[in-house]
Amino acid sequence: MRNLIDIRDMTVEEIDRMLDLADRIFEHPEQYRDTANHKTLATLFFEPSTRTRLSFEAAMLELGGRILGFSSAASSSATKGESVADTVAVVSGYCDIIAMRHPKEGAPVVAARHATVPVINAGDGGHNHPTQTLTDLMTIRREKGRLCDMNIGLCGDLQFGRTVHSLIAAMSRSPGIRFSLISPDELCIPDYVREILTERGCDFVEIGSMEEVMPTLDVLYMTRVQKERFFNEADYIRLKDSYILDPAKLSRAKDDLCVMHPLPRVNEISTLVDNDPRACYFKQARYGKYVRMALILTLLELVKEG
Ligand code: NCD
Repeated sequence: MRNLIDIRDMTVEEIDRMLDLADRIFEHPEQYRDTANHKTLATLFFEPSTRTRLSFEAAMLELGGRILGFSSAASSSATKGESVADTVAVVSGYCDIIAMRHPKEGAPVVAARHATVPVINAGDGGHNHPTQTLTDLMTIRREKGRLCDMNIGLCGDLQFGRTVHSLIAAMSRSPGIRFSLISPDELCIPDYVREILTERGCDFVEIGSMEEVMPTLDVLYMTRVQKERFFNEADYIRLKDSYILDPAKLSRAKDDLCVMHPLPRVNEISTLVDNDPRACYFKQARYGKYVRMALILTLLELVKEG
């Protein structure tokens, strides 16, 4: 693997190896302190981000590497009309690896074609977000001890939520997964994601109510309604608070439910849930740095065997 554009660029075995490495780095970060010395990561973020960009930068700095980049399209030559192809062709000369976020679906594919260094998709429009999925898989594996045989509830904006699409693409390859897809009709999964589920013969239900499936879930993945992808503000306002997880709803869940959220949270999870031992979302954000350290080392072919 040279680039990470879609989570399906990685085989299940490659993901397992990367999660093993992320676990080793998590347990012994000091052993990896200088592994990316003199290497430079460019973060090209044409769309806002807190966790993804900062965790990429923190990951590279912790590996002893250097970082450069921009955090909004407004501060790049995109405002002058420069193409993604030209930007990455130029930036390839300044760095060893690129992490790119872009509002247009498919932009990282174009970038990978024109870059001379590895390209990581850090989120493309409402499409994919493979490094969030690696973070999510690390969280599920650490919290549940496995990536198979479980009931996963995905709740909220399943139409535009790119983290949901990538997570389904990854987890649908594991045996014994049942998906409960909880959303208003307007925000149900796109057809191409439904096709992935059908092609793989996955067990899934699409429902409108969270309460109905709550007692059956092992993982509950909450998502924000993606305001920036709506054409119409009135629709966003009508749909934005469709689901709010609070202690009353959680009281019907299993004791070992793992509640996840890629963050940022708006109203989807009451802050009253934050101290519940089942709330894993801040831990999940922390794991993101370690999994990105593992990804950078793998793509730069700097992996030390553990
Ligand atoms: C997500 C994203 O950017 O898609 N955030 C993240 O990377 N952790 C989710 C979101 O913005 O709702």
